[in-house]
Amino acid sequence: MLVRLVRMFLEGAAGVAVTSLIGLYVYQNKLVYPSWAQGARDHVDTPDNYNLPYVERRLMTKDGVEIRAFDIRREDSNTTWLILCPNAGNIGYFLSVVELIYRQFNSSVFIYSYRGYGFSQGSPSESGLKYDADCVMSFLQHDSFYKSQKMVLYGRSLGGANAIYIARNYPQMCDGVILENTFLNIRKVIPHVFPWLRYVAFMCHEVWDSEEEIKFVDPTLPFLFLSGKKDEIVPPEHMETLFNLCPSDNKEIIEFENGYHNDTIVQEGYWDAVSNFLNKYV
Ligand SMILES: *[C@@H]1O[C@H](CO)[C@@H](O)[C@H](O)[C@H]1NC(C)=O
Ligand SMILES: *[C@@H]1O[C@H](CO)[C@@H](O)[C@H](O)[C@H]1NC(C)=O
Ligand SMILES: *[C@@H]1O[C@H](CO)[C@@H](O)[C@H](O)[C@H]1NC(C)=O
Repeated sequence: MLVRLVRMFLEGAAGVAVTSLIGLYVYQNKLVYPSWAQGARDHVDTPDNYNLPYVERRLMTKDGVEIRAFDIRREDSNTTWLILCPNAGNIGYFLSVVELIYRQFNSSVFIYSYRGYGFSQGSPSESGLKYDADCVMSFLQHDSFYKSQKMVLYGRSLGGANAIYIARNYPQMCDGVILENTFLNIRKVIPHVFPWLRYVAFMCHEVWDSEEEIKFVDPTLPFLFLSGKKDEIVPPEHMETLFNLCPSDNKEIIEFENGYHNDTIVQEGYWDAVSNFLNKYV
């Protein structure tokens, strides 16, 4: 009797564990891409609130998903920044940074919502976000204004992984890459963010293998790595390793002693570092 009870209990526990793992496997995209949080699908701030001129673009990816973008061009600019957003919030959250780039750097800005973010259709996945990047690069490549601009990729966290994907696949269109607090790959971030999942990190199918991709970027493309040494989500060693693996002949890493994952951008010297990099290499 007791043996039977114990066996039933163990089978029950195993069942719960298996069910939880299947649940995690199926729903991991909700964790990796929390686009649903903070009401970020219901409201997207627009550039006119910052007195920036813009056109909203609706672009169709090759797998039939409509994504939205803000095209914020300055007719007198020579350089355009393509902003690759992190995994939380929406493109509206970046508008104060867009304003700074537009007014301080006299640059145009193109910023888009990944699928499943903001008002873009669909739901996020690694393969889907790569289609989105292809779609945006195709638009920029064929636009008479953008094709004559120098292009700077600017990506934070998950945006950095997208920037590395673009840099690797569209080298002829890129003139500089700025990466902030991005990771080697998502499997290697899991043990830090979700310690209880460390033994099942291999089940994560959203990989974003920048550790591998960055080895194949064009060595003539300049890279700037901006790393918060107190990053509590992506261990700063990831940035250091990416920097070492990057074959660029013109690369720099700047470390901010007090920078956490999302406030490195407000650390002293951040924009000077960016400005120096652009003046030197782009
Ligand atoms: C763009 O380049 C031209 C020619 O080099 C220069 O005169 C102009 O000041 C540049 N514009 C900006 C906004 O940097
Ligand atoms: C941007 O343009 C303003 C006004 O033309 C100029 O004073 C400033 O030096 C420019 N800044 C950069 C970074 O080119
Ligand atoms: C960083 O995130 C925290 C909480 O998630 C938020 O309160 C804070 O405003 C963010 N800081 C920046 C600079 O985005």
